Amino acid sequence: MKITIVGAGNVGATAAQIIVDKALANDVVLLDIVEGTPQGKALDIYQSSAVQYSDTKMHGTNTYELTGNSDIAVITAGLPRKPGMSRDDLLHINSEIVATATKEIVKYSPNSIIIVVSNPLDAMTYVSFVNSHFPRNRVMGMSGVLDTARFKAFICMELNVSIENINAIVLGGHGDSMVPLVRYTTVAGIPISDLLPKNRIDALIERTRNGGAEIVKHLKTGSAYYAPAASIVQMIDAIVNNRHKIMPCCVYLQGEFGHSDICLGVPVKIGASGMEEIVPIKLSDEEKTAFDKSADDVKSMLKIVS
Ligand code: LAC
Repeated sequence: MKITIVGAGNVGATAAQIIVDKALANDVVLLDIVEGTPQGKALDIYQSSAVQYSDTKMHGTNTYELTGNSDIAVITAGLPRKPGMSRDDLLHINSEIVATATKEIVKYSPNSIIIVVSNPLDAMTYVSFVNSHFPRNRVMGMSGVLDTARFKAFICMELNVSIENINAIVLGGHGDSMVPLVRYTTVAGIPISDLLPKNRIDALIERTRNGGAEIVKHLKTGSAYYAPAASIVQMIDAIVNNRHKIMPCCVYLQGEFGHSDICLGVPVKIGASGMEEIVPIKLSDEEKTAFDKSADDVKSMLKIVS
């Protein structure tokens, strides 16, 4: 198992570190255009493996040759959001970066599975999918796992229960119109609506929607990376261990959930071949309206990048 991570910023480097800690791959290659950064961070992370007793090898590079024959390639490259900046502001610059990274990955690792993390996530997943010419099961965007993690964390804080008790799912785009599905949110199997009044649930949904922005506001320079990195690794773990695990991911839709020629967050089953299937769930009228609104927001971005 060889994993390439494009972008040695906080998200990419933290994901690499978790992969090494968990020994999820034999080789990890960290790539960045900034000279010295991937080399230095890779060496540092590799040295941590001597403490963690992980046999994962780690290399840093500025060119794609070393990434050859990767099984998984994660694209985190791009500009992060600055305070006051929306994800959509990043559209133009990051689509160039993601398209270039995708073409290089395809050239050196034609059989890889690509996980896109750059923002705006749904549009960047689309850009990567189109430029890869891969079948759609091998290009997925990471956003639903992160948005769901945030929703779960906020429920946990509200109810003071174990995080293991919480099951939730957030669909749609990774933006302000994301769709946390209250009907599918349970605590130890108990519907959340039995445990919290509607106004509290609405507040948790609102906080989830602003989950990324809340952290940007605190940090002032840069955006979240611990939870994004952990979410990337959850997808990688499902691939590496062929778990057939269901989680929300951004994938190319061909009529599912009523949409085509768009990448959007839906429940998918992940295993060794990447996306094994899109899990069909029936949305209520209200959920469908929210999902369609989210799709519209993503479509308006796609018009700009296509
Ligand atoms: C976030 C950014 C990375 O949600 O999209 O934190």
